[in-house]
Amino acid sequence: AQKRGIGIGTSVNLGPFMNDPNYREVLAREFEILVPENAWKFEFVHPTPDRYEFGQVDTLINFAKDNNMEVRGHPLVWHYSLPKWINEGNFSRDELIKILETHVKTLVGRYRGQIPTWDVVNEAINRDGSLRDTIWLRNIGPEYIDMAFQWAHEADPQAKLFYGEYMTEEINQKSDGVYTLVSGMLQRGVPIDGVGFQSHLGLSYLPKLDSLAQNFDRFNQLGLAVQFTELDMKIQDGKGSLEERLAKQAKAYSDLLRVCLQAKKCTALITWGFTDRYTWIADVTGEVEAPLIFDASYRPKPAYDALKEVL
Ligand code: XIL
Repeated sequence: AQKRGIGIGTSVNLGPFMNDPNYREVLAREFEILVPENAWKFEFVHPTPDRYEFGQVDTLINFAKDNNMEVRGHPLVWHYSLPKWINEGNFSRDELIKILETHVKTLVGRYRGQIPTWDVVNEAINRDGSLRDTIWLRNIGPEYIDMAFQWAHEADPQAKLFYGEYMTEEINQKSDGVYTLVSGMLQRGVPIDGVGFQSHLGLSYLPKLDSLAQNFDRFNQLGLAVQFTELDMKIQDGKGSLEERLAKQAKAYSDLLRVCLQAKKCTALITWGFTDRYTWIADVTGEVEAPLIFDASYRPKPAYDALKEVL
């Protein structure tokens, strides 16, 4: 993948990371980019106004260093996973701006020079393309997005800064909203380098490849990089035997990678977890959906082989 100019990565969940040596072994062997799945989220890293908890992130960063991996920062500004003191704080606009500025600069500044890429703002847009009603939008205004990118850039001028979103793989109202947002940012001189497409997919929810390719291209034309940042693919919603569904999954994974390789500037394919043994999808749907590229016993699935073949 490196030779083809693309980084292959995965999110990492601290529970299995600490408790399952097989998890760590496959992680180190197969992946180049490590994304802490939850450890950098506001409620965990900044649980009370004056306390930051960096232990979990640092554990992952040390592992990444030992194994020659790069760590991707995720996420600085999100409406979800916020601590009570934020959600119930009743802060004034100025106070909330100061809080967010301190939060962003503390996280990015602490790891200055070590984290090549950060997801700065995550999921800020609605399905119809408008800005999502969040604590940040309501109390600061739409400029919170520009501000967050500026602060992150000041704290680490070398870091590549991304906007991340889901259900924006195809050209649709939501990806139009992202396009409008980031075009405006570029016009205003806001430091943004790329757009992340989460790509939480399923066999009945796969992007049309021509639309995906066109979508990537319009962001690339703006000079922005694109990445698959949280790819997983449920198979429960597909038709056929397990074997047939795993084959469809393999084809779909490899199709996405092919689009990335053909794009002008698609720099990473990151899956949201890597083994079906541990995936957030099971928490959401209550079922084992086999969305990833290693099975629950860490055996490579057809999707893994299909990706390798494309590379
Ligand atoms: C998810 C994690 O995987 C879960 O462990 C956690 O309980 C909730 O968040 N979009 C994102 C990710 O940007 O941070 C989310 O991760 C999945 C959806």
